[in-house]
This record gives sequence, C-alpha cells and structure tokens, in this order.
Amino acid sequence: MNITIIGTGYVGLVTGACLADLGNHVFCLDVDQAKIDLLNSGGVPIYEPGLKEVIERNVEAGRLTFSTDVAASVAHGSVQFIAVGTPPDEDGSADLQYVLAAARNIGRHMLDAKVVVDKSTVPVGTADKVTAAIRAELAQRGLSDLGFSIVSNPEFLKEGAAVEDFTRPDRIVLGVDDTPAGQQALATMRQLYAPFNRNHERTRVMDVKSAEFTKYAANAMLATRISFMNELANLAEQVGADIELVRQGIGSDPRIGYSFLYAGTGYGGSCFPKDVQALIRTGREHGQTLRMLEAVEAVNHDQKQVLVQKVFARYGRDLSGKTFALWGLAFKPNTNDMRDAPSRVVISALLRAGARILAHDPVAEDEARRVLALDLADAPALLEKLQFIDKPMEAVQSADALIIVTEWKVYRSPNWPALKTAMKAAVIFDGRNMYEPEQLRDESFEYHGIGR
Ligand SMILES: NC(=O)c1ccc[n+]([C@@H]2O[C@H](COP(=O)([O-])OP(=O)(O)OC[C@H]3O[C@@H](n4cnc5c(N)ncnc54)[C@H](O)[C@@H]3O)[C@@H](O)[C@H]2O)c1
Repeated sequence: MNITIIGTGYVGLVTGACLADLGNHVFCLDVDQAKIDLLNSGGVPIYEPGLKEVIERNVEAGRLTFSTDVAASVAHGSVQFIAVGTPPDEDGSADLQYVLAAARNIGRHMLDAKVVVDKSTVPVGTADKVTAAIRAELAQRGLSDLGFSIVSNPEFLKEGAAVEDFTRPDRIVLGVDDTPAGQQALATMRQLYAPFNRNHERTRVMDVKSAEFTKYAANAMLATRISFMNELANLAEQVGADIELVRQGIGSDPRIGYSFLYAGTGYGGSCFPKDVQALIRTGREHGQTLRMLEAVEAVNHDQKQVLVQKVFARYGRDLSGKTFALWGLAFKPNTNDMRDAPSRVVISALLRAGARILAHDPVAEDEARRVLALDLADAPALLEKLQFIDKPMEAVQSADALIIVTEWKVYRSPNWPALKTAMKAAVIFDGRNMYEPEQLRDESFEYHGIGR
C-alpha cells in the first residue's frame, strides 16, 4: 500500500518506519526542514531503541522516504496518517492547529479518494473538524464530489519501547463511521494492519467518537494510578509504612495488577500531562467538572516538587556551596524526550537555590541543554552551574548528595563502596525507589526514597 505519514515525530516516524517494514511504500512528511535533512542524511532525530535499524533497512530498500513536499505527500498515499503534535493550548485544551493545517493540505492537493487517519491524540469531535477542513478546501477547488473518509486510529505506543509496542500492539483501535465509505475505509485499515493480527485479532472497531475518547481514557487511567500511589506514598512516609511493600501487596490482586503503581517524582512526558488537561477541558466544555482528574493533575504538580522539598528539608533553602549529582534527565528511561520531565523542575529549583549540579543521562543531554536554556531564560547565568557529565560515576565526584530522577538501567547496581568514596557525603535522594533502603543503610548511606 502507498502510505503518507504527516508529522515525522515520535509517533509518525515509528509508524512510518514500521509500516514500511511490512512492505508498504511510506512517504513521511514534516514541516521541519532540519528534521527531514537529518533523516535524509542517515540521522535519527529521536532516541528510540531499534528504530534506527528499521529506518535504515527500509530507506535502503526504497520503501521509506522523507520530504517537506506537501503536494507530493498528498499524491503519494491512498492512506494519509495525521501524526502531528497536539500540544496544550493556554487553557489546557488540545491545540488543533497542526492537525487542521494537515487536513487543509490534504484538501488543497488531493486528486483522488483518500482514507484520512487521525493518529494524533485529539479530543472527541475532532474528526468532524478534520472533515470540515478538507471539505472546505475541496469546495474551493470545485471538487466537492471527491471522496474521502476519516478513521480515528489513536496510538498507544510507549516511548522507549515504541517499535516493540507498534509491532506487537495490545489493541488496534479503529473508529469509523457506519456508512458505506466508513466501512470501505475500515476494510483498507484491516488490510494494512493484518500482519499484526496473525496471532489473534487485536482490532477493536467502534464509532469515531468512542475511538477518540478511548485514547484519553487510557492515559487518564494510567495517570490516575500514578497520582494515587504518589499520594499514598506521601502518607506512607508519615505513618511509617513502605509504599513499595504496599504496591506489591495490592498488585498481587489480579483486579489491581502491578503496573503503573510506582511511587516517584510524578509523571511527565508529552502525553499524560497534556492529555489529562485536555480531558478536563473537554469536561468543562460540556458543563462537567472531572473532579478526579483535577485531583490527579494537582497531585502530580506537587509530586514533581517532592525531591526539591526533601533536599530543602535536609539542607535548608539556601544551597550555595552545595553540589548535587543528578542521574537521569529524560522523563523516563530509553528516550531522550524531555517534555514535562520532572528533572526540569528539580534542576531549575536547585539552581535557583544556589546549588551546583553535575548531571548525567545516557541519551538526553542535548535535549536537556535545549529545554533548560528555555526554562532558565530569565536567569541564564545559573546555567553555568549546571554541568553535563559523560559517566555516572564521574558525576558524583565530590557531590554532597546524589539525586536519582530517571530509572535508567545503568543506574541499577552501582558499586556502592566506590560511590561512597567518590562522594563528599554518602547521601542519596532516590526519586524512583530504585534501591532498597535497608541495603543502602547497611552500606552506610543516608537514604531518602519516596514513601518508604
Ligand atoms: N509521543 C508519544 O509517546 C505518543 C504516544 C501516543 C500518541 N501520541 C500523540 O501523537 C501525536 C504526535 O506526538 P509526537 O510525540 O509524535 O509529536 P512530535 O512533536 O514528536 O512530532 C510531531 C511532528 O509533526 C510535525 N508537524 C507539525 N505540523 C505539521 C504539518 N502541518 N505537516 C507536517 N508535519 C507537521 C512537527 O514538525 C513534528 O516533527 C500527538 O497528538 C501525541 O499526543 C504521542
């Protein structure tokens, strides 16, 4: 099949590369010339395990191309995936300007029937807006009879395991209209995704609005579990319980399960924060206050401060003369994505309090430099007190404490005696509960976990 992917970011690039790997001919479009140039010169703009290899073999096979040519992109694909960003607007609602710009481009250039697939996370009702945007352009060109149908196909991949998730999805949600055109589009999508359904049927077919809603419901549920555990973790500290034991105690109940119950420094990334906000906003637009999700968001906001509060409680609010090693910058392991990463909150607060920071992350350093320059645009001189260090053990040299923000595997089992010798003081703030408090106390570390 000839496929066009509009928006070559985390979702678009993975979708395009993986669909090419199945034998489709995929045209990836982006408005970002630098991104397209990088891809065309063999680079990959994001870190995602396994992705580079998939891209390389499909570019080599002539099945995957990258371009900024809008007309060519519309001409190429009988299926047009919209995978552009939907960042939060000022009021928290999803900003649809990129989705609608992509829709208008399709309407402006299409010359034959298209299946238009919304893969971006978009609020309920967006498919109608996409339809209207395409129709308006077709009408202007006097081509109102040209057929197209909209499919909602939200993406559930996780950054850090995106290739694996895309090629072995738990489910493929397809929202289609109950019209002949909708059913025809469904048949096309079933054919495209058939290779993923060989072992068992993973497709969930529903109406468009339910499909759009499903994506928000999934992220809202996961965010809720995290905030729930974070709130209980803070209480566990007060009452002297260990939240990690509690997690295992409740996770063993199959109705609850173990996943997404880790206490930590709060959720970040490009999805949970903005999707929870957008769903709250959708509720408001329909006269409904989503009280639980408002609490989920408020708890998460506070939780991002939890490490900072622990550091202040230990050293006071003036951190001049103190040096902190910080392990982990990306919002989670196996990605270089720094969108809404808790490390940004921690770094800004500690630098503003006078501290020096020696930071390590296996892949997110460049992204971290870029976003922290924005976060500290009002006080750029503070960035001089932030150094990025290549090796974790070098970052701890002479540090007053080590702060763990992201649970990369490489931090799992440090050489404790060597760590202690390198540091000025053996103090650890473990924002991801990576370590066992008792073991660290045995190794003579002062240990501060979350909820333990
Ligand atoms: N990142 C994730 O883990 C994830 C998972 C599931 C769903 N989603 C959703 O998928 C969507 C995309 O997310 P992302 O993380 O890939 O975003 P991203 O910011 O990484 O990529 C979006 C890309 O779209 C490009 N773009 C913007 N307007 C364009 C246009 N008119 N034509 C062509 N390209 C255009 C941008 O330059 C950018 O490269 C969002 O709605 C997001 O919520 C993301």
